[in-house]
Amino acid sequence: MKIGVFDSGIGGITVLNHLRVQFPGYRFLYFGDTANVPYGSKSVAQIQELVDSAARRIKKKKLDALVIACNTASSLALEKVKEIMAPVPVLGVVEAGVQAILNSPESQILILGTRATVESHVYARLLKSHLPSSHIYEQACPLLVPMIEEGWLNHPVLDDTIKEYVKPFQGILTEEKKGVALLACTHYPWVRESFEKALPGWKVIDSAEAVSRQLRGLWSHQPVSYDQASQVTWFFSDPTVVASFMEIKEKISRF
Ligand code: DGL
Repeated sequence: MKIGVFDSGIGGITVLNHLRVQFPGYRFLYFGDTANVPYGSKSVAQIQELVDSAARRIKKKKLDALVIACNTASSLALEKVKEIMAPVPVLGVVEAGVQAILNSPESQILILGTRATVESHVYARLLKSHLPSSHIYEQACPLLVPMIEEGWLNHPVLDDTIKEYVKPFQGILTEEKKGVALLACTHYPWVRESFEKALPGWKVIDSAEAVSRQLRGLWSHQPVSYDQASQVTWFFSDPTVVASFMEIKEKISRF
């Protein structure tokens, strides 16, 4: 089985890491469109064009399934990628993120994502119908993806930037008003602890587990081998700009 995992950069690796544990005998192909990261601060038309062209290149790799491990692309271009990849099944992370919140709903819900994801209001729209009495806040954090791509995972500037973005939500919780914050950008789990520190009292979650469950559902009829380590082949549209902290940097190719 060959599973593709696609993101604008290194964010999708947070999803890939989870999938490798859940699908130990499978082969993974990771695609990072590092020549064009960040997607989230670009226009809708430009994001759709970039995702379209990445999907056409990914299609050539003959996958058994593709996970769009990017909230921005999943919010704005999921249907188009499904069309390009057909008949290969394609999963986005938005539905999984919504599922993750529905699995632990609270009266206060905070969606943290790129500007494009937040401005699409896709999460608020989907959640409103399931949780009409919850209060849904959406916060764009556009400076974070460039810092994370730069490898600033434990950097005071990153901590301060996160604190600044979440300031309006620090201290709004009470005994009755509990909160769940969704990391609705796959880059953000790299710096989960900084979010947890900046959002005391909030449950900080992501979509990796829910998307892995959805993927498992695709092949529930097939036996899964647990006796092999998973293998990953790495592809980046610009290998030279992959953050230097990634241990994969010696083994990557261009897609
Ligand atoms: N990791 C991506 C996401 O989940 C994209 C970030 C970006 O390229 O701006 O939205």
